[in-house]
Amino acid sequence: MKKLIALLPLLLASTLASPDGKGGNRDIAAPVASSAPTFAKTDGLLFNIDGASQYYAGTNCYWCGFLTEDEDVDKVFSDIAASGLKIVRVWGFNDVNTKPGAGTVWYQYLSASGSEINTGSYGLERLDYVVKAAELNNLKLIINFVNNWSDYGGINAYVKAFGGTATSWFTDSTSQNQYKTYTKTVVSRYSNSTAVFAWELANEPRCSGCDSSIIYNWATEMSAYIKSLDSNHMVTMGDEGFGPLTGDSGEYPYTLAAGGYIWQSNLNITTLDFATLHLYPDSWGQSYSWGTPWIKLHGAACAAAGKPCLFEEYGGTNNCTIENPWQNAALETNGIAGDMFWQYGDTLPSSGTKTSDDGNTVYYEEGNWDCMVADHISAIKEKNGL
Ligand SMILES: *[C@@H]1O[C@H](CO)[C@@H](O)[C@H](O)[C@H]1NC(C)=O
Ligand SMILES: *[C@@H]1O[C@H](CO)[C@@H](O)[C@H](O)[C@H]1NC(C)=O
Ligand SMILES: *[C@@H]1O[C@H](CO)[C@@H](O)[C@H](O)[C@H]1NC(C)=O
Ligand SMILES: *[C@@H]1O[C@H](CO)[C@@H](O)[C@H](O)[C@H]1NC(C)=O
Repeated sequence: MKKLIALLPLLLASTLASPDGKGGNRDIAAPVASSAPTFAKTDGLLFNIDGASQYYAGTNCYWCGFLTEDEDVDKVFSDIAASGLKIVRVWGFNDVNTKPGAGTVWYQYLSASGSEINTGSYGLERLDYVVKAAELNNLKLIINFVNNWSDYGGINAYVKAFGGTATSWFTDSTSQNQYKTYTKTVVSRYSNSTAVFAWELANEPRCSGCDSSIIYNWATEMSAYIKSLDSNHMVTMGDEGFGPLTGDSGEYPYTLAAGGYIWQSNLNITTLDFATLHLYPDSWGQSYSWGTPWIKLHGAACAAAGKPCLFEEYGGTNNCTIENPWQNAALETNGIAGDMFWQYGDTLPSSGTKTSDDGNTVYYEEGNWDCMVADHISAIKEKNGL
């Protein structure tokens, strides 16, 4: 082996650069994966990240962009990278109707008498730091622009400022123009960054009692708008995956009433690069085992549509017995290109405190970390032949 090193330094370099450090069975002239950052894209029913088309795991860190200490962001991103997770979903919105005091992060103030986007040190500069940390740690971000729910403002903050209702928001021109202004500000800030995996229209958009054309048309227009601003990055919806689905068994999540849209019909929106699905059976009145066919049916629909599905959020009381079958089903299902558990947790170095615990938090290298994260990463590596 030593002789080989002396004679073939290039072979050694290439061997060391291979993901498993072995590299023995790889074609050196045409490596499977290049570590040089590129813009993430779809490749058939998979995602291609930095040259490698394979199944990926990630996680949700809604609070990452609201951390005020750089060292906390550094720790979280280096831990996530060390764990083998690749995609991190962060909230790209933080809407307020009243400006908070100094030292509290907010991104957008919404008011009929003049809205304002906070690009300062307790505004989008915090998101800037997250993008920088992702770049340094070779992680990829999903960044969304509004919440259906009232946490961090959401659609409700627009409604408070501009009138209308949670459902008229999707077609209200004042709200939509402001949403576009905000989206444009965020997109143009990071349009050249390879750390952005995808832009996301919303967190869990729902339009209760609506015709399915409302969200269909909104998503078509907004995804085309984002593509017109930035052709480098993928765009996705961020919805939960509701509505009738080929082969479904008719429960509530498979109805138009659940979200006011038909997920399967939205698959033909060409400016949405991939589809999302979430899974919280207990919140939806279903058994935990009901989750496995939910994943498989979405995967089959994505395969039929020729674009990948991302199993973007899931939670079941943080119990590996409940959630491991979902992870295994996602990994085995053609059409499901990755999964991201809700939610990541860590201990912040600046304060020694733990991040948000909502009952579904898996803390880095603590508690059920191994059975929820480490074992799954190993299974993914095995499947990917790494
Ligand atoms: C979010 O979705 C729910 C359920 O459909 C809906 O009732 C609510 O009004 C939506 N929007 C807000 C701002 O809560
Ligand atoms: C992105 O790159 C293009 C082409 O190099 C350049 O014109 C543009 O100003 C860059 N945008 C940002 C936000 O850096
Ligand atoms: C997309 O699907 C919807 C609903 O199934 C259908 O009405 C529409 O014609 C389709 N559009 C395209 C461009 O295929
Ligand atoms: C996890 O879920 C399984 C199946 O529902 C249950 O039997 C078990 O008691 C749960 N474990 C914990 C620690 O709650």
